[in-house]
Amino acid sequence: MKTRLKYWTYTIIVLICTSFFIGCGNKRDDTIQENTAPVESKIILPEYFKPIDYPKDNPFDSKKVALGEKMFNDTRLSRDNSVACASCHIKEYAFSDTVQFSVGIDSQIMERNSPPLFNLFTHNAFFRDGGSPTLELQAIGPIEAPEEMDLNIVELCEKLNQIDEYKIAAQKLYDSEVTPFVIGRSIANYMRSLNSHHSRYDAYLQGNQSALSETEQKGLELFEGKAKCINCHYGGDLRSNNYYNIGLYEHYIDSGLARITLKSSDAGKFKVPSLRNIAITGPYMHNGSLNSLEEVIEHFNLGGEPHPQKTELIQPLYLNKKEKRQLLEFLIALTDTSYQHH
Ligand code: HEC
Ligand code: HEC
Repeated sequence: MKTRLKYWTYTIIVLICTSFFIGCGNKRDDTIQENTAPVESKIILPEYFKPIDYPKDNPFDSKKVALGEKMFNDTRLSRDNSVACASCHIKEYAFSDTVQFSVGIDSQIMERNSPPLFNLFTHNAFFRDGGSPTLELQAIGPIEAPEEMDLNIVELCEKLNQIDEYKIAAQKLYDSEVTPFVIGRSIANYMRSLNSHHSRYDAYLQGNQSALSETEQKGLELFEGKAKCINCHYGGDLRSNNYYNIGLYEHYIDSGLARITLKSSDAGKFKVPSLRNIAITGPYMHNGSLNSLEEVIEHFNLGGEPHPQKTELIQPLYLNKKEKRQLLEFLIALTDTSYQHH
């Protein structure tokens, strides 16, 4: 019951934010056009990523990225100056958290595991259930969420307008004082700049055959073949915008996608997460219930618990000990160490 209530509070907040944004967005469009970034400052990605699709009113702008980064790391964006986005999304762990459930304001415990943040431009929707449609909205949600940062966005604007560096930056970049529009666009611009594509797997894809060891290459073969991981974790970001019930439980406490669609056929379905940087983003799954990659591999190997909504794509794999080890080594080779110093 408590869970339901929280979800509803969240949904209502998101709705309020949406109306806010539509209002602000229209007003500010003209101003933003002038700030289109120079071509050379665009982010270049390997060709196995589709190009970044920037919203018209928030093209890449390195100065907005810098402002967004400052906000992301600033605990003053919370009611009592104790929590920042970076409290739960820690750079050294590809912007995930190391605990099963992060701790928000007043020591409140989250109900889902904090996901890592990178290559967010590949996502159609945010959250593990896709409940948040755009990155601009997603940037505001946690600030207002009572269990995360608990600060009303209008109050936050008043607060930031008293701080010279924010006031001046907003004036320079948006020709405005600090508004929800400025906060949402800056943090989203920053998050869209968080791109990870420098793992050894990338070097391998780009033609350096020796970037992966023999064992890791065997692991990649399994990933694409016998282990069938590629059916769901694919494309440049090794994820997809599909939602599946992978049979973690016979009875799920968290209803996943069904929370959004209210259809029982969506029970226990969650967005397919990226496997990039996976070695440093544990614990795993929507609820951080699996502590190691060995446990995850064992889950897929056994084929999961029976559940009416479990996808047919999850079946026992019959991998032997050696194969499990090869698969594990490949997953570890997906770590982008340069991303930790982004
Ligand atoms: C108290 C911990 C906490 C704080 C603070 C927090 N987050 Fe999160 N974040 C989470 C959790 C937990 C989720 C997953 C929620 C879900 O899937 O339902 C999440 C999800 C996200 C996602 C979606 C990623 C995806 O893969 O779909 C983005 C983007 C994000 N947060 C950005 C932010 C930003 C920006 C801030 C600051 C304004 C912030 N977060 C503050 C815990 C936190
Ligand atoms: C039917 C689609 C599907 C297949 C096949 C699949 N996965 Fe997944 N995988 C998912 C979904 C969906 C989740 C998220 C489940 C959740 O959050 O509860 C997930 C989660 C994971 C996670 C945890 C990620 C995180 O950030 O918590 C890892 C690691 C993983 N899968 C690896 C694999 C490997 C290795 C294989 C092949 C043996 C595989 N997956 C096959 C859909 C799939």
